[in-house]
Amino acid sequence: MLYTMVDFSGFYKLSVDERLARIKEAAGLSEEEAKMLSDSGALKLAVADKQVENVIGAVHLPLGIATNFVINGKSVLVPMALEEPSVIAAASKAAKQALPGGFKAEADESIMIGQIQVTGIDDLSKATHNLTLNRKEILHAASIYMKQHERFGCGVRDFETRVLDTARGAMIVVDFHFAVGDAQGANMVNTALEGIAPTIAHLTEGTIRLRIVSNLATKRRARASTVWKKDLVGEGVIEGVLDAHEFAKADVYRCATHNKGIMNGIDAVALATGNDWRSVEAGAHVYAALGSYHPLTNYYKNENGDLVGTIELPLAVATVGPAVNSSPTARIALKIMGVKSSRELAMAMACVGLANNFAALAALSTEGIQKGHMRLHARNIALYAGAETPEEVDKVAGIIADEKNFDVAHAKEVLKEVRRK
Ligand code: MEV
Repeated sequence: MLYTMVDFSGFYKLSVDERLARIKEAAGLSEEEAKMLSDSGALKLAVADKQVENVIGAVHLPLGIATNFVINGKSVLVPMALEEPSVIAAASKAAKQALPGGFKAEADESIMIGQIQVTGIDDLSKATHNLTLNRKEILHAASIYMKQHERFGCGVRDFETRVLDTARGAMIVVDFHFAVGDAQGANMVNTALEGIAPTIAHLTEGTIRLRIVSNLATKRRARASTVWKKDLVGEGVIEGVLDAHEFAKADVYRCATHNKGIMNGIDAVALATGNDWRSVEAGAHVYAALGSYHPLTNYYKNENGDLVGTIELPLAVATVGPAVNSSPTARIALKIMGVKSSRELAMAMACVGLANNFAALAALSTEGIQKGHMRLHARNIALYAGAETPEEVDKVAGIIADEKNFDVAHAKEVLKEVRRK
């Protein structure tokens, strides 16, 4: 969505009500939608009870908006749900430093891989030969189970056969490729796989075991890139980010944390938009481990000495489906983003991951992150110490941050003092 003329500078300085009013105006939210956001108990227990088992309540997370993102020439407000301070501020700052060009992003068609495992095959070459020979029939059989989704552009596209040598003998895995449109696709794929499995059993004369989607969605990748200008971020930051990137390339202990910082942003958008962040996490880390475990981002200097940052990872995310639709806040989050498809959502998530990574590396390689982070974290400590009103939280947090004493017992003493005055 293009938010022309809506200025979000100083957004962080506004009160929660003022921020919500701005977003309501920019994203065209209804009164009811705005009320759902301001009422942080928007998930009705009756709905939660139908989503999972043995429900006794609901867990809430703060929902914030990362600002300054311009993606393929459009301004995008990015909803992020998470408990960690600094992440939303860091994404917004890195996105601002990427202006005026902003980010370029693209995403593959939404193709998911679904696997059928066949064991106990007497004649492996006959089985694989039969699968190749009956290619058309197999794809036709699979297409029957995708019929009801065809109007959304979904369907079976192809399959590949592999023989795996395992400790329990050789087995065949048939990897089907399904176009799943704007859905995450797991249910659609798993249903189709269970439907096709008897055909595969017949052709291979084997025993069907697993029939399940793969969370390594290598055919559903998103990519983003941007340029951080030397004049804006400074040469020191550029050199620092490049050194930090080399560190992650050379050392898996660092690389795990490097990629965690990327997933801080991506998971937060997944959560805000009602997506399955566990599958996103699984896919991202196994993708990073292809070859040898490596950073999901890449950095280099262009001919002007500016820093180019890029990211690529699989992102199987949805803008439709039960999880998204049953969560009122997820629906509103997607409306705020203005994304019209799962591909657009994946593109925005890739940009946020890149922004969070740049922000972390820029801070870590120069002044460090603790100063800024602890100033924000001080608000959590103030709350933990018993501060109740926003004024109390700000006063206590300000004092303990200035004193650099984040001990909870000390924060309690400061709170008493604040209340005495
Ligand atoms: C903290 O949640 C994330 C970072 O550790 C990421 C990084 O080290 O790159 C700051």
